Amino acid sequence: MKTRKYLVLNGPNLGHIGARQPEIYGSQGLDSLPGMLKEIMGAEAEGIELLFHQSNFEGNLIDRLEKARSEGLDGVAFNAGALTHTSLAIADCLAWIGVPCVEVHLSNIFARTDEPLRQKSLMGKSCIGVVAGFGILGYALAVLALERHAAKVEDKK
Ligand code: DQA
Repeated sequence: MKTRKYLVLNGPNLGHIGARQPEIYGSQGLDSLPGMLKEIMGAEAEGIELLFHQSNFEGNLIDRLEKARSEGLDGVAFNAGALTHTSLAIADCLAWIGVPCVEVHLSNIFARTDEPLRQKSLMGKSCIGVVAGFGILGYALAVLALERHAAKVEDKK
């Protein structure tokens, strides 16, 4: 079985998922992700390697994305936190690196009508899709989508 490698990348204020405002972002931590992936994908999950990275700094996230390109990673499940809505630099990076990315949000940013800025994403146009509103499950769904995407791209070769 071919092993594919995916990066689970988290931006600012996402180093304490499960503890941070659980009423908005849920109370499960990222440690539950491998189990969820197994639940969703069964034996297929054995062919997946996950790498994790979190930073509160924009430049560090860009460095990690560039490294994902040079490492030839198969995709990125990326929750850029508040930088989703403000960072042209992250959007610019995703526009050129050529690594498939799924934008992930723990909360349903589109339902946060009290804060309209959160409904806007600068990076979304350079992603293959967006998952929002399902807590940690969103990362598992993003990895599943990346895996299907990679298989489809390979089929076309
Ligand atoms: C978030 C939504 C953002 O608006 C917020 O700044 C975050 C988390 C989410 O996962 O729902 O830090 O990306």
